[in-house]
Amino acid sequence: MRVAKTNAELHAALAEVDGKTVAFVPTMGALHAGHLSLVAQAKTKAQVVVLSIFVNPLQFAAGEDLEKYPRPIEADLAAAETAGVDIVFNPSVEEIYPPTQGMQQEKAGPIGEVLEGLGRPGHFDGMLTVVARLFDLVQPDFAIFGAKDAQQLFLVRQLASRRNAAGRHPLQIIEAETVRNETGLALSSRNQYLSAEQLETALVLNRALLEGATEETPMATLDAATAVLRTSPKAKLEYLALVEDETFMPVSEDFHGKARLLVAAKVGETRLIDNLPVYY
Ligand code: PAF
Repeated sequence: MRVAKTNAELHAALAEVDGKTVAFVPTMGALHAGHLSLVAQAKTKAQVVVLSIFVNPLQFAAGEDLEKYPRPIEADLAAAETAGVDIVFNPSVEEIYPPTQGMQQEKAGPIGEVLEGLGRPGHFDGMLTVVARLFDLVQPDFAIFGAKDAQQLFLVRQLASRRNAAGRHPLQIIEAETVRNETGLALSSRNQYLSAEQLETALVLNRALLEGATEETPMATLDAATAVLRTSPKAKLEYLALVEDETFMPVSEDFHGKARLLVAAKVGETRLIDNLPVYY
């Protein structure tokens, strides 16, 4: 496994595998089984797997956990190697955002301002900006994103469509299913902040989604999920929403097709999100 710390080192590592297909897994590190499942999926798609580890300051709103965000680089490199990653790209902030170079800023638009974007101004613009920068540097054929961050996945798909339409290196976005632990909790790097009691509380998110997903109409879905969430007041609900999978717009009561039930809640100081597809 090659570890590239600079754009030049990445370029050199990619030159060695020139002509081979590349699948890219962007991460902020603190790798867990969820990330490793993205790597496993990447390996089925392409001959070379590139994984980036970069805690992107642009996507943290003021007061969020940028400083505190876990950065266990040695453990991450060992996990990446075991998972069969070919190239790890672990750049510094200056390497990604050179102070002397004007930066191409991406805009998420209206969908970037709702749900996750509402309480995190600039989050999705910052996320898309780094993802576009990483796509420019890695030039992957495939990029793998987890379904847990459904709004991110939606916006990244839009970014990829814009880039493909503009004649950039053709890129296919692959959605990877959310990985859960044996209790049903969606894996997240932030779970490590939770105490044993909070881990128990956090399970209400998945329970609410499962309950809502069994209902037959959008309103019944929201009612059922709300009722479950109310049983656990220690999970401070930020939003529960039902959106069309294709547009990310709220579903109407007569909607037919694939929707997504989304939830965000704070357990202690830790903000958790989860979602499930729902079919009507
Ligand atoms: O999902 C993440 O970990 C981040 O948002 C990403 C895609 C690596 C961009 O920083």
